[in-house]
Amino acid sequence: MTDVIYEQIGREYGSTRQADPRISDAIRLALGDAESIVNIGAGAGSYEPTDIAVVPVEPSLTMIRQRAESLAPAVVGVAEELPLASRSVDAALAVLTVHHWSSWPRAFAEIRRVARKRAVFFTHDPTAGFAWLDDYFSAFRTDSTRRYPPLAEFNALGGQVTSHPVLIPADCTDGFTGAYWRRPDAYLDPTIRANMSTFALLSTYAVEAGLRALARDLASRTWQHRYAEILDLPELDVGYRIVLAEFA
Ligand SMILES: C[S@@+](CC[C@H](N)C(=O)[O-])C[C@H]1O[C@@H](n2cnc3c(N)ncnc32)[C@H](O)[C@@H]1O
Repeated sequence: MTDVIYEQIGREYGSTRQADPRISDAIRLALGDAESIVNIGAGAGSYEPTDIAVVPVEPSLTMIRQRAESLAPAVVGVAEELPLASRSVDAALAVLTVHHWSSWPRAFAEIRRVARKRAVFFTHDPTAGFAWLDDYFSAFRTDSTRRYPPLAEFNALGGQVTSHPVLIPADCTDGFTGAYWRRPDAYLDPTIRANMSTFALLSTYAVEAGLRALARDLASRTWQHRYAEILDLPELDVGYRIVLAEFA
């Protein structure tokens, strides 16, 4: 069984979800000397390096249809059953997708089967929260603890596993959940929320109650006073991490 949510919510993915160049650089650095990768949960192709061979694997046709023609064609498949031969690529890449997988042990075993050198994940640490968003959408806490693997879970990959905070720029171009930490009005825009699975999976009641409180606090400038210390920061730790597993 796989998570089909992007079949429903991903139709306009590219409108708010453009790869951020600074996050892209951090991911490319982590891939190191890999000359071939499988990009698992490749979606529309964000963060796929253009200087090495890529096999994109993605279950959602809605997402695959949004891939640029210049990118490698995607293979339909899931992390839990990778459609690749054993030891066929140097590295596995998985960007903002592990929280959609149905079985981390099965997917990690598949990654170990196909990747010779390493695996690189860009994910969210469920213990870190989403900064001030947790004050308005308290259900994020429970939801992300349930959906995102604890960082310790990645140790099951074997090899040497390390995690590295990725600070999110104030003008991040990839509209994932924590991207708009310094642009709070963005969360009031349904088009922006539509491409965030965190919002899609919250109850309508929790979303509407949080939005009402946020709109009220922005209008009264309570939000601006309460979070004054972050308003001049160029980047913030909103819980995003690169997890790097070195196998060699
Ligand atoms: C938030 S999108 C990220 C897409 C892309 N990696 C990016 O950074 O833009 C999550 C992707 O994971 C895919 N996905 C869901 N379940 C999956 C599974 N079991 N195996 C692989 N990918 C999956 C979704 O279809 C979706 O394209």
